[in-house]
Amino acid sequence: MSFTTYSTQPFKDQRPGTSGLRKRVEIFRRGNYLKNFVQAVFDTQTELVGNTLVLGGDGRFYNREAIQIVLKMAAANGVARVLVGTGGLLSTPAASCIIRKYTAAGGLILSASHNPGGPDGDFGIKFNTANGGPAPERVTEAIFARTLEISDYRSSNDPDLPLDTSGTYQLGDMRVDIIDPVTDYAQLMEGIFDFDAIRRLLAGGFRMRFDAMHAVTGPYAIRILEKHLGAPPGTVINGVPLEDFGGHHPDPNLVHAADLVAMTQGTDGVDFAAASDGDGDRNMVLGRGIFVTPSDSLAILAANATLIPAHRHGIPGVARSMPTSQAVDRVAAALGIECFETPTGWKFFGNLLDAGRIAFCGEESFGTGSDHVREKDGLWAVLAWLNVIAGRGESVAEIVAHHWQQYGRNYYARHDYEGIKAKAADGLMKALRERLPQLPGSLLGGMTVSYADDFSYTDPIDGSISENQGIRIGFSDGSRIVFRLSGTGTVGATLRVYLEAYEPDPGRQQEDPQTALAPLITIANQLAEITQRTGRDAPGVIT
Ligand code: G1P
Ligand code: ZN
Repeated sequence: MSFTTYSTQPFKDQRPGTSGLRKRVEIFRRGNYLKNFVQAVFDTQTELVGNTLVLGGDGRFYNREAIQIVLKMAAANGVARVLVGTGGLLSTPAASCIIRKYTAAGGLILSASHNPGGPDGDFGIKFNTANGGPAPERVTEAIFARTLEISDYRSSNDPDLPLDTSGTYQLGDMRVDIIDPVTDYAQLMEGIFDFDAIRRLLAGGFRMRFDAMHAVTGPYAIRILEKHLGAPPGTVINGVPLEDFGGHHPDPNLVHAADLVAMTQGTDGVDFAAASDGDGDRNMVLGRGIFVTPSDSLAILAANATLIPAHRHGIPGVARSMPTSQAVDRVAAALGIECFETPTGWKFFGNLLDAGRIAFCGEESFGTGSDHVREKDGLWAVLAWLNVIAGRGESVAEIVAHHWQQYGRNYYARHDYEGIKAKAADGLMKALRERLPQLPGSLLGGMTVSYADDFSYTDPIDGSISENQGIRIGFSDGSRIVFRLSGTGTVGATLRVYLEAYEPDPGRQQEDPQTALAPLITIANQLAEITQRTGRDAPGVIT
């Protein structure tokens, strides 16, 4: 094996955030920025030596170069075998599936998720552990600590590998298998859902669209929805992955997937529409004339879990991230199953899934998933909805309305203030934190505060504690306001304000969420002095 050890200097800013290390492409391309981080992974994750690594990304700009860099470094660091998706592509959930199926020691996923791509866009890398899930904090902290003291990296002297056709290659002593990125994942889906029922639904005139947003899910959705399930060609739109996602934000929400939303409107609107993000782990679900909030989606799937063959005997429990609405809590209570509230980020679900305490979990940020992998999974959510629609024989709007009638409606919205000054954001959070002790029992906008805290989580499986996970203000009627700063942004700071109000009365469940939440929005603005501190009088994005 021929490799070279190169000397390098540490970078101070390689601490992974909510979901891996994410920076501007230009930063990743600067000097040894990527190589340092990758070497820190190999230096700390020693179980990769002599073992299998899974490697792939969302196809964004710099993906191909980064794959070649990682391959050569893996060879020089003693990895025995690497499984790479053709073209360097693997959706995040497919990477998780492949790590688990081939009992790999871990995976490196190249993605900045829903952030824009292209030479001026973002890039990212994250390490997943042998369970297929995002590395827990103790692992990411060890990698970060290593980046601060790194002095050299190793890379093999072999030429680049062709990535575009399946096949087996040798890179020094290391075997590289270029594999079809879809096959294993498609098989997994077929084993979970009632494909026959979905086929019948799609053959019976049910009209749907799936927007792959020119990101990684195009090939997955075309294979599964159009080829395996018989949806007509053209069901998948924007299905060709592009390095810059066609210049758009590959972010499935009402703002960035507005064209898809338009297809669900009016009497000629499609029955079902869905979209996924850059790396395929997020989902947005729509019916004709209706948007299903991710929080409601989780609750509705949990309530209907037994329609899905893999869960026909029921689910042991559910979990949601703290800012996600409490809709699923009501379902769990009715089913008599456990319900966990975890910090933001999929990595916090891993232990609960591994321990079999939960089967479904989700986040308000368009993330839904189950115990089939250890990542959120956009297409899984789409197939789960199709399975539930087929099983219930109802439209999306009917399913949602019946759910609200039974459990009540949790009106929900998230207001994002992006690109604000880090100092202003920190000041706002600090001032809020200082006010917390005085808030319980007080009246805000005529509503009684029942609790106010900075969320801290003790993992029920390994006892690890994660503090300062967001400020929660709960009111006596079940309403909540949550404030937190984003851990995935790459420019300035992003303040997220999460608003939730509970409405049990079916006669009052048809309001516009911004109207229903108006009193809470006013309270949030006053309490956090958002306008004074950030200079913004309205959020940039509402989801
Ligand atoms: C955001 C979402 C969070 C999600 C993460 C990765 O993180 O809010 O729920 O897990 O992206 O997709 P944030 O920027 O809020 O830290
Ligand atoms: Zn993503």
